[in-house]
Amino acid sequence: MFMETKVEAPVSTILEIGKHEGQPVTIHGWLYNLRESGKLLFPIFRDGTGFIQGVIAKNAVSPEMFDSVKTLTQESSVIVRGLVRADKRAKGGYELDVQEVEIISRVSEADPYPISLKDHGVEFLMENRHLWVRSPRQVAILRIRAEIIKAARDFFDDRGFTLTDPPILTPAACEGTTTLFKVDYFDDLAYLTQSGQLYIEATAMALGKVYSFGPTFRAEKSKTRRHLTEFWMVEPEIAYAELNELMDLAEQFISFIVVRCLERRRSELETIGRDISKLENVKPPFPRITYDEAVSILQEGHSKGALETRFEWGGDFGSPDETYLSSQFDKPVMVHRYPAAIKAFYMEPDPKRPELALCLDVLAPEGYGEIIGGSQRMGSYEALLQRVREHKLPEEAFKWYLDLRKYGGVPHAGFGMGIERAVAWICALEHVRETIPFARMLNKIYP
Ligand code: 4AD
Ligand code: MG
Repeated sequence: MFMETKVEAPVSTILEIGKHEGQPVTIHGWLYNLRESGKLLFPIFRDGTGFIQGVIAKNAVSPEMFDSVKTLTQESSVIVRGLVRADKRAKGGYELDVQEVEIISRVSEADPYPISLKDHGVEFLMENRHLWVRSPRQVAILRIRAEIIKAARDFFDDRGFTLTDPPILTPAACEGTTTLFKVDYFDDLAYLTQSGQLYIEATAMALGKVYSFGPTFRAEKSKTRRHLTEFWMVEPEIAYAELNELMDLAEQFISFIVVRCLERRRSELETIGRDISKLENVKPPFPRITYDEAVSILQEGHSKGALETRFEWGGDFGSPDETYLSSQFDKPVMVHRYPAAIKAFYMEPDPKRPELALCLDVLAPEGYGEIIGGSQRMGSYEALLQRVREHKLPEEAFKWYLDLRKYGGVPHAGFGMGIERAVAWICALEHVRETIPFARMLNKIYP
């Protein structure tokens, strides 16, 4: 494919380079860093799967090659050939005795790679996100994200759930009208979906156990470390399920994802400096508390001086409340039965206390706050119609959704987990902006 080679060497990834110990290999990658020491050059190469230090001795290569590598700039792309040598001191366990470096594209010295190995501010890094994703920490985070998504899919696929994809362009709101993105749909008004839920309630009536996984949108005017305007949600929905079963499912689901990351992404978790013992502790059962109990904990927190304002029953938890609640537990905590008045229109009331909704939020530990929101869905046609009217939602747009109660309605329940919130917690990141390749936030749509 590329120029003829002087050294015969099979292509290997850095990840699998150990299979070639003592043998020649070819690596397709980029120059990450370069150190010089007398007659030796120590370039560090990266190839997307890992990093490896090379050693180039002046007398082992031609003078032209030695000079050309000596002046090589960061992020120049290279094809490298050399001998793999085990080295206990090396991070990945191996070094490469370089025999040949073929430069594919040399980064100009006049216009060097903008992200050096020193610290940069987050603003600058976000403006250069297209390049920042190459750095070791970001690579590790994106791999963990991919693992979490794969784990979520495997979890549902292996338990009899069928993936059904809801539409992204929708005629109506799912999670309140204040965060809708409007779209001109051939002169009609449409919206970007806030959640696939309403549609997978329909497919759950067709297939029993379903899930969706896709992008969702909220025109969030808030600038918090937890809010994106575009995020990915995984949502299971089950026919003939009630709130308790939903809580069991959420608990198993989260445990499964954490175990999977510990099994398959331990080295990435180590790269980003995650305290792994905290994740190892995430084993069922998770504490389950009612909203009422959560309110007591918050009020106690206020009297101890840990929370500025006293939380009053009936309000929705703000970020500081969620942070406080979730820092009280060393496992995810499930809070159920919130006041119906602060929750979405579609939730089934608690028959014992109709002012409460049969819903749950899962708050991640270490102060990460809500990662899952879900509920049992309203079963009665009349009650749901009344809710649609109370919430001043356009009745015509919800006719199909009301039909689901007319034609063989059953108790059913589901939840949604925001992938980015889960990644932020599992990676212990300060902000969700690093959990997705290209974050979309208030005032952020470039690159
Ligand atoms: O609690 P939410 O709004 O619930 C729903 O959308 C339901 N329809 C889901 C369902 O029952 N099928 O959102 C669910 C989750 C939250 O717990 C959070 O993890 C994530 O989606 N989320 C966001 N993540 C990032 N940025 C935002 N602006 C988010 N809003 C919600
Ligand atoms: Mg929620």
